[in-house]
Amino acid sequence: MDIAASERGQWGSRVGFVMAAAGSAIGLGNIWRFPYVTGQNGGGAFVLLYILCTVLIGLAVMWAELAIGRATQRSPVGAFKALAPGSIWKMVGYMGILTGVGILSYYGVVAGWTVGYLIFSANGSLETVIPTVHMTDPALHLESSHPDRFFGAFVANWRLQVLFLVAFMGITMVVVLGGVRKGIERLTKILMPLLLLMLIGLIVSGLMQPKAASGLRFYLWPDLGKVTGMTFVYALGQAFFSLSLGMGAMLTYGSYMRKEDNLATSGMYVVLFDTVIALMAGLMIFPILGGAPKSAGPGLVFVALTHQFQAMPAGTVVAVIFFALLAIAALTSTVSLLEVVTSFMVDEWGLSRRGAVLTAGSAIALLGIPSALSLGGVESLTHIYTLGGKGQGFLDLMNFTFGNVLLAAGALGTCLFVVLRWGLREAVAEVAAGAPWFERLRKPWGFALAVLCPMAVLGLLLYMLITGKALG
Ligand code: TRP
Repeated sequence: MDIAASERGQWGSRVGFVMAAAGSAIGLGNIWRFPYVTGQNGGGAFVLLYILCTVLIGLAVMWAELAIGRATQRSPVGAFKALAPGSIWKMVGYMGILTGVGILSYYGVVAGWTVGYLIFSANGSLETVIPTVHMTDPALHLESSHPDRFFGAFVANWRLQVLFLVAFMGITMVVVLGGVRKGIERLTKILMPLLLLMLIGLIVSGLMQPKAASGLRFYLWPDLGKVTGMTFVYALGQAFFSLSLGMGAMLTYGSYMRKEDNLATSGMYVVLFDTVIALMAGLMIFPILGGAPKSAGPGLVFVALTHQFQAMPAGTVVAVIFFALLAIAALTSTVSLLEVVTSFMVDEWGLSRRGAVLTAGSAIALLGIPSALSLGGVESLTHIYTLGGKGQGFLDLMNFTFGNVLLAAGALGTCLFVVLRWGLREAVAEVAAGAPWFERLRKPWGFALAVLCPMAVLGLLLYMLITGKALG
């Protein structure tokens, strides 16, 4: 371990890295975003495309990011500067930082919902049988027997939205202040396995629903007639988002790895865990829904699960545990997003870690406010920004622009960097440092980086340009 590395911090063990990286990857992207994007994009066919994108492109980009990070021991901008001094490749790094800021701003809002749902399930608000929505203003109490209306009332309460956003960002800042090993690694190791158990339990209970079979059919049977260019745009974006790729998060996590670590296998585990958890989240939601969701907005999972919890014996307890775990899964992801921005500010601007965390964290919380208000809090915002003609809100717009398009662009930049500037030979050698067998994957990896990923991302960008889909 060189001196620079020990000052920056390193993972305690290989398991530690896999758990922390899986903690970054596994989050609301799997449990909130995947089911709702699947619902919007026709079910099984989308799932199939998503899996293909993950295996053929996501894994290749994962290795690329980890390799760049470990080779340079730097955060995104510094990494590109180190491998390509004086060139414009550093723009890929800058774009990543910007993307991370954008993602975290609205991600924090949804993460706040998990805390809100945790509190409201604990205090019984989700269980009450009062048929009207009742908003006892700033006090933490909302009532409704109907999960749909509860969600509506909740997101329309702008005070609560801002409160939970700020609270969640605050907690994230505290963890990131703790540093790499103590803060991030310790948290993930314990809680991820617990989340897995909980998912299994909920899948089993969902499968006992009368509508389960038709839900499974929608989710698993690829109806290729439903595939459009947009299905592919969303599938690729979802693959990158869910794997935390395209903005330098995995690059940064790779920079805390040691040369002797097996980057190839660790990367594969992260991809595997993340994909399995996403597919499980779908198995949990669609049997409950019994088919295509009627309105598949960002509220989908919250509404569907609340239905399910209400129907269960001891539903309150289950709900509390579930939302607590979801909040923690979200936290390990927000932590990784803030960690990237922080390490960028420390490495490039020479800020103290503390100063960086405080500045970045509060700026991002402020940036999240439009998203926090956009689902009903401030009607005008919701109506001005429509996306794809679906009348979605600002949060969706952010989710699409930063969490889909810009991630894809960043992933493209990363692939092209490896192929055109760094050199495949060097990159393979970096991965193979802890995994000699990787030498044999040189051709397929090169093909994915030089051909598959660029074609897919350029196809995505061209498609959006031509159809004007991004402009709504
Ligand atoms: N992958 C996380 C999720 O699925 C979100 C996330 C964390 C992320 N860090 C990221 C997404 C970096 C893109 C880039 O919830």
